[in-house]
Amino acid sequence: MKGVILAGGTGTRLRPLTNIINKHLLPVGKYPMIHYAIEKMADAGIKEVLLVTGKHSAGLYTDYVGSGREWGVEVSYKIQEEAGGIAQALALAEEFVRPDEKLLVILGDNLFEDSLSEAVIEFNDSDGNAHVFLKQVGDPHRYGVPVLNGSRIERIIEKPKIPPSDYAVTGIYLYDSRVFDMIRTLRPSERGELEITDVNNVYAEQGLLTFSMFTGWWMDAGTHQALAEAGARLLESEKL
Ligand code: G1P
Repeated sequence: MKGVILAGGTGTRLRPLTNIINKHLLPVGKYPMIHYAIEKMADAGIKEVLLVTGKHSAGLYTDYVGSGREWGVEVSYKIQEEAGGIAQALALAEEFVRPDEKLLVILGDNLFEDSLSEAVIEFNDSDGNAHVFLKQVGDPHRYGVPVLNGSRIERIIEKPKIPPSDYAVTGIYLYDSRVFDMIRTLRPSERGELEITDVNNVYAEQGLLTFSMFTGWWMDAGTHQALAEAGARLLESEKL
């Protein structure tokens, strides 16, 4: 199983902090944001991780993460030249993943409490195709929201005005290597991006998208408010 951390994007909602530094390098608790995604990969037993970043601040990632030795993982890097969406960033990992391998994808701004290790082992040992993690939230319209049907997801609606459920699809995904074929079939969305939700919906249409629930806290640290809240929670949980 390979790991892919997506840490590109412009971080517009975190301006002016992101005028000088990429979002995923901002301090959260005791560490730069990127630290936590690598820690989650290591905790899930992933040994090889690809870090996809934008070209701005790229050198700072190698300054902090280096080879990944500190976490016991081997980190390599890929640059997304222009922000073209999460699925476009993920497409850059195609050569990194063998056709018979699966992958764990984490969006670098997703901070959360649950360990992924059980789900990763289960997915890797099964014939699972795609799996997402849901979290019950009070403001689902800000996220991808699932239409649930028993143990499967029927489809996901991205930032719906009227949410079909009160769950957010978090930015943590498990895929088989067919995900790269799925991405090739996508067209840009209204915001001009290749959407990860469209990738998930290709699996969902085929009845292949499973899910589990996060029980601990989860946050998309893409806003000043969420960044501050996540920092406070992390400081608390680490008793720093
Ligand atoms: C992305 C996904 C969305 C998901 C969210 C989680 O949204 O498109 O489905 O719920 O990440 O953080 P974005 O942050 O790109 O608006």
